[in-house]
Amino acid sequence: MKEILNYGKQLWDFKDVNSMIDKFMELYESRPVVNNAGGMSSTHLFWTWYVAKKIHPENIIESGVFKGQGTWIFRQACPNANIFSIDPFLDQRKYIDKETMYFTEDFSMIEWEKYLKKDSFENTLVFFDDHQNAYMRMQQLKWQGFFHAMFEDNYPVKQGDCYSLKKIFSGCGFSHDGINEIPPNDTHASYVMKNIETYTTLPPLYKPEKTRWGDVWDESNYPTENSILAQEKLEKHPAVKAEAGGYTWICYVKLK
Ligand SMILES: C[S@@+](CC[C@H](N)C(=O)[O-])C[C@H]1O[C@@H](n2cnc3c(N)ncnc32)[C@H](O)[C@@H]1O
Repeated sequence: MKEILNYGKQLWDFKDVNSMIDKFMELYESRPVVNNAGGMSSTHLFWTWYVAKKIHPENIIESGVFKGQGTWIFRQACPNANIFSIDPFLDQRKYIDKETMYFTEDFSMIEWEKYLKKDSFENTLVFFDDHQNAYMRMQQLKWQGFFHAMFEDNYPVKQGDCYSLKKIFSGCGFSHDGINEIPPNDTHASYVMKNIETYTTLPPLYKPEKTRWGDVWDESNYPTENSILAQEKLEKHPAVKAEAGGYTWICYVKLK
């Protein structure tokens, strides 16, 4: 199967990105974790904030907290949302949100009906930045009754430590550290497509010549949407350009 960047009904045309970036960068200046190496920088934090503002969920579930930069941006985007944040290693946190409920159990081990109002599952955004198998995460979302999800680690065919939606759609399977864990197949893509309404790869704000792995960012190895920020905005916000190499095809998915 050919790699896809988008599928189904697209919810946003991104025409407002160039006007929203100024507000985002103003917030970004006051981020609690200035050096968030190993976690999210402006490259993905912008899209996390953007999608959360658009969806305006009643509940946000964040899987993969690290130092807490993502928790902080969710609180900025949706001040009144109920936030539930999961990480087996919560002692890494530098930002702790007073209103957030924290868990160390895996997303799949939490009985969400205990914590969310019955009619609010549809209005919940689940954000995965935990390097787990996205195929299993899709099954878990479906079983639990969630509709809106984002995957931060949406690694391309030849890269990354987890089975991503991008890999699933390309049919490449998954090998890691020389072990062939999931054989090449079109079955997983077909099941995912039957269960989703929308898949959107959020475009890079700026596309540097090289990827985060140091090779040339060409279309044959790394099919990517066109970058989205106007030159004047890149000049105004140099951090966006400096941090653009962190991009990993962060995506939004809406389940049926
Ligand atoms: C890349 S970091 C997350 C960065 C974070 N989202 C941020 O805002 O910068 C990945 C995190 O996933 C956590 N993790 C590993 N396995 C996990 C799991 N099963 N569920 C949730 N988090 C997990 C790790 O402990 C690590 O803190």
